[in-house]
Amino acid sequence: MPDYPTRTARLLSRIHELGAISEDATGATVTRTFGTPAFLKGRDLVQGWFEAAGLETRLDGIGNLRGRLRSQRPGAKTFVLASHIDTVVNAGKYDGPLGVLMGLDLVESIIQQRLELPFNLELIAFSDEEGVRFHTTYLGSKVVTGAFEPALLQKTDANGITLAQAIAEMGGNAATLAADALPPAEWLGYFELHIEQGPVLWESGVPVALVTDIAGQQRVELTWLGMAGHAGTVPMDMRQDALAAAAEFVLATEAFALRHGHGLVATVGQLRLVHAASNIIPGQVVHSLDLRSPDADQLAAAYTDLQAQAEAIAARRGVGLTWQLVQATAPVQCDHELNRLLGQAIAASGYEVDGLVSGAGHDAVPASAVAPATMAFIRCYKGISHNPLENVEAADVAAALEVAERFLLELKNAHE
Ligand code: GLV
Ligand code: MN
Ligand code: MN
Repeated sequence: MPDYPTRTARLLSRIHELGAISEDATGATVTRTFGTPAFLKGRDLVQGWFEAAGLETRLDGIGNLRGRLRSQRPGAKTFVLASHIDTVVNAGKYDGPLGVLMGLDLVESIIQQRLELPFNLELIAFSDEEGVRFHTTYLGSKVVTGAFEPALLQKTDANGITLAQAIAEMGGNAATLAADALPPAEWLGYFELHIEQGPVLWESGVPVALVTDIAGQQRVELTWLGMAGHAGTVPMDMRQDALAAAAEFVLATEAFALRHGHGLVATVGQLRLVHAASNIIPGQVVHSLDLRSPDADQLAAAYTDLQAQAEAIAARRGVGLTWQLVQATAPVQCDHELNRLLGQAIAASGYEVDGLVSGAGHDAVPASAVAPATMAFIRCYKGISHNPLENVEAADVAAALEVAERFLLELKNAHE
């Protein structure tokens, strides 16, 4: 019987070692966004672990860390086990790294047992899933799946550095991005382990669940253009206050999502007042809108409705509005056959088989366009994520390791 508690203790100690590497010099919080010195230091650490495990390891053009366990079978396809090692700002330690380091543990176990697989196994630590630095997600997995559009190279970060420059500065190579994709005919499938980032498993006490669907997303940048003016002299009924317009839209958005429910969520998570001061009537406000639903029709209808509401608010208040779609991803259904195997692995490990819809985006989304893809969610503390309080119970990770190991063995048997 494999010693899952001991393996879990080792992988959690790796999580803490990686989690101590941060852009925040005090080390009090975890921030490792794409391409920064902290990101590179963290990736070096993980690369050392990949190499020590015996994986054939390389960095691709966009800085994904890729480890290969080759099959002896001629013409073998490739099964990808992956998650990401970049983080949001002021993050937890588990969103992304847990999936990579659980994958590493599973690969180490396969190597130690000298198991011959009928497929190549590629373990990937994606360099950018969160999209924090360049405001567009899945940069790493887009490269591996062949979905990377060269126009993305011109996107700029907050300091005006283009993605092309950032890639060069971090020692990557924008010229190889197309060749870094796994050709479609080579894919066998994709599997990602990830904390749930929501409270369902925490409440039910079930350690692990399969993912049935991943919500689609629309990300929009709105700019409200009012008239800056003196806070003490312009009468209230003669103002064109850009922030008041934005605030009305934020509350209308919340009310809209609350009314519609059924998986629709809408968030304004970033807001900037241009030339802000306490004695200036806000003249320009730029903010995000993040809209998600697992139902494509509902997502499209919500998008159209909220845009109309924003335009109506702008017209009534006499302010200008630009509405710019920044990113759109369609909802994804996880693969039925992989989920059948995963469900068997969960049941054989003695747990109830639950299927969850992911409201969070994952690298499984681009992967699903080229290969059968699925995910397993691991119970996390109170469902808290994108927050330093993110945490897991060791017993839940051990249970998920057992499930994932069974799943890989079932996959092996299915392709033998
Ligand atoms: C990634 O964490 C996302 O869903 O925004
Ligand atoms: Mn994640
Ligand atoms: Mn995240």
